[in-house]
Amino acid sequence: MKGLTELLTCIQEISGGNYSNDIMSLTTDEYDPYVRELAESVGLMMVRIEAREFALEQANDDLKCNIVATIKAVARGLSLRDPYTRGHAERVGLYCERLARRGGLSDDEIWTMRVAGTLHDIGKIGFSDRLIQNVDTRVDAEMLSEIKQHPEWGYKMLRGLEFLGPALEYVRSHHERLDGTGYPNGLRGDEITIGSRILSIADVFDAITTTRTYQQAMDLDKAFSILRNLAGPSLDPELVELFITDIKECGLEDAEDNFSTCAMVENSVFEADIKK
Ligand SMILES: [Fe+2]
Repeated sequence: MKGLTELLTCIQEISGGNYSNDIMSLTTDEYDPYVRELAESVGLMMVRIEAREFALEQANDDLKCNIVATIKAVARGLSLRDPYTRGHAERVGLYCERLARRGGLSDDEIWTMRVAGTLHDIGKIGFSDRLIQNVDTRVDAEMLSEIKQHPEWGYKMLRGLEFLGPALEYVRSHHERLDGTGYPNGLRGDEITIGSRILSIADVFDAITTTRTYQQAMDLDKAFSILRNLAGPSLDPELVELFITDIKECGLEDAEDNFSTCAMVENSVFEADIKK
């Protein structure tokens, strides 16, 4: 039967997700009526499937947009309590994203790093007023205990949000050190995931290159020197060098406390994902 083989080929392509074939060319008079009718029906079905896939993609984009807005809203809660960390969460998220991209991680992993960086200190919401309002550098044992619990508090706050995936573990482990002297769990070496290693570098770098109550922002040479001193016992040496290269080539982030919904930072993987 003329056209049957072509029709079968078209149907196989459609089942594989290829909707670009010209199945309607099989509906002309030169083909058997049976083939024409089948081609028309399958062609219509193909259009409907395409339309539904498009609608699903749109819904997925909206969902991602809302996830990002939710994450930023949660992070804002911390900056309202602790204005000295204003902008820190967003900048760390951006540095995480950049280092993940430079390290060759997948788009999903890069997105996860941005999320983890933005939320990494959310457990500090649980800090006492005494610790938040501390204006000198003296920290007693009780305050130190609070500080050391914030990664675990953050993890426990967020763990019901399954869409965060590996970001939960990165939040919990962003103060672990390769030599096992970090907190909260004293992980060492390979027990610390690449995501947590990236987050640790971004966090330390932003902390030392911004002005806080207890320090002036350091210049880049000094900041690089500190990162390199920490490489080995604390930070991943290979990632530190990648990060320094990235900062030298692409500069510093200067994100302020800007949490406008879906006003994503240009060129970020968030925005790229939403535009897909
Ligand atoms: Fe932290």
